Amino acid sequence: MKAPVTQQATTTTDNIAVLRDVYKTYQMGEVEIHALREVDLEIRRGEFIAILGPSGSGKTTLLNLLGGIDTPSRGSIVIDGQDISGFNRKQLTILRREKIGFIFQFFNLIPTLTAKENVEYALELEARQGVKPKRDAATLLDMVGLKERLDHFPFQLSGGEQQRVAVARAIAKEPALILGDEPTGNLDFRMGKLVLKTLKEVNVAEGTTCIIVTHNMPIAQIADRIIHIRDGEVAEIETVENPVPPEDVSW
Ligand SMILES: Nc1ncnc2c1ncn2[C@@H]1O[C@H](COP(=O)(O)OP(=O)(O)OP(=O)(O)O)[C@@H](O)[C@H]1O
Ligand SMILES: [Mg+2]
Repeated sequence: MKAPVTQQATTTTDNIAVLRDVYKTYQMGEVEIHALREVDLEIRRGEFIAILGPSGSGKTTLLNLLGGIDTPSRGSIVIDGQDISGFNRKQLTILRREKIGFIFQFFNLIPTLTAKENVEYALELEARQGVKPKRDAATLLDMVGLKERLDHFPFQLSGGEQQRVAVARAIAKEPALILGDEPTGNLDFRMGKLVLKTLKEVNVAEGTTCIIVTHNMPIAQIADRIIHIRDGEVAEIETVENPVPPEDVSW
């Protein structure tokens, strides 16, 4: 089950993300916090990946580096063929806009826009790049069980409903890479499964690479591979022989 972390150089074509000897260190006064160290990873296009690890182990840090929200202290990160490790803020903004659909731990919806408008905003960004979106906002919100909540503002939605709007918004962008920081963290069992099913559908139908952080071992079993993080290090990369269909997961 345990696969070694490969060190050899690979071409970028099959990989959506390649990390080499990545470190993230935070300086807190005299103390250095090694949020991530010696991370070597290759994520193939179209993979469904779960990142599993205890609180404080570096999961969000890793996701933020993959999504160009933060930069590494050392090492290289190649996303979709581009080495982003030395990118400036403007270059990172373009990367995030064009390639990444982020589902944040705390949603980040635009408070002055309704659920439908939050999703439409992502669709507009897409249209501005000359891409005709495959689905409209109502369809996307229906996919995550929110067709009755289109005109609600974020403050009129429950935490779990806001989280599902964030999922619809990430899918709306039709990104190369969807990054979800505990995308089912605020959801009950039924809605959690609906979100996982929706992500898996997009992963299979469109080949969108999905990387989700979870605390939850059964949820991780829907993935093709599980990256186990401990104390800022990749402790193990596990290949799931028979990924469990989201509808069959129970936790
Ligand atoms: N901006 C920061 N400044 C200093 N230390 C930080 C910063 N961000 C994160 N850390 C530290 O880095 C470590 C990893 O944090 P991270 O948020 O990646 O953990 P996590 O695995 O996502 O945890 P959780 O499951 O609780 O969300 C933690 O010890 C945290 O305290
Ligand atoms: Mg976290």
